[in-house]
Amino acid sequence: MTSSDRRDHPIAMFDSGFGGLTVARAVMDLLPSESLVYFGDTDRYPYGSRPAGQVRDFAIEITDWLVDAHDPKLLVVACNTASAVALDHLRSRVDMPVVGVLEPGLHSLMKVTKTGRIGVIGTVGTIASGAYQTAAGKSDIDVELTCAACPGFVEFVERGDTESDQVKVLAQRLLAPIRDAAVDSLLLGCTHYPFLARAIGEVMGPDVVLVSSADETAFEIARLLDDLDIKATAEARGSREFVSSGDSASFAEIGARLLGLPMNHVRSHKWN
Ligand code: DGL
Repeated sequence: MTSSDRRDHPIAMFDSGFGGLTVARAVMDLLPSESLVYFGDTDRYPYGSRPAGQVRDFAIEITDWLVDAHDPKLLVVACNTASAVALDHLRSRVDMPVVGVLEPGLHSLMKVTKTGRIGVIGTVGTIASGAYQTAAGKSDIDVELTCAACPGFVEFVERGDTESDQVKVLAQRLLAPIRDAAVDSLLLGCTHYPFLARAIGEVMGPDVVLVSSADETAFEIARLLDDLDIKATAEARGSREFVSSGDSASFAEIGARLLGLPMNHVRSHKWN
């Protein structure tokens, strides 16, 4: 099949739940002609506290389903935990480009830092995997990286609580090592954390730049589509399809709020 035949195929994207919608939104804004299918594994969420091997198995299962059901031209792992533990496996499994959120996020952090003292926060699974530490170590730029896991942040976001005293107290405690390291830029290395940017920003102070992976991931996708000559034609009208392994009605309701756009049809896909 030639590259032009792939142009009309969708970009497939998955996350453990809703958080990856920040990436979906960035892709929809930057590449409106592209068709997108988004899978939120809300039935098995959260991933951040699960063993790495289990998250990898879930990522493989979702990828196989997306490939069978949608024949995408590109796969986006819009989840930091799954990117940290499964990206290499997925890249060797499927015959298409696979984009994670980890490398684009780190890349924008490197662009922003002036002192070279950078921070990354993420789920327990992401930070324990050592993936950010390994990727930063391979970079040509000399940086001093401080990482911290932030258990509890995701649960606050899922409850819709992003500004209470409780979440601020938790942020003070969990971000202490990052503050002590005097970083000048901090990557929100979990899809949910941009929703806590205000609370995190208050703890870190105005001199620390908060970086989220969503925009840089969308730029990376645009670059790849161009390089591989598989970009949708400008006149194409991209379709959007959302699929959830959990309750599709609540996915539509919460998803629309987070995406900032109506989500008319959410399909259900139940795991056996
Ligand atoms: N999507 C996950 C991540 O970016 C956060 C939510 C979860 O723990 O599943 O790491």
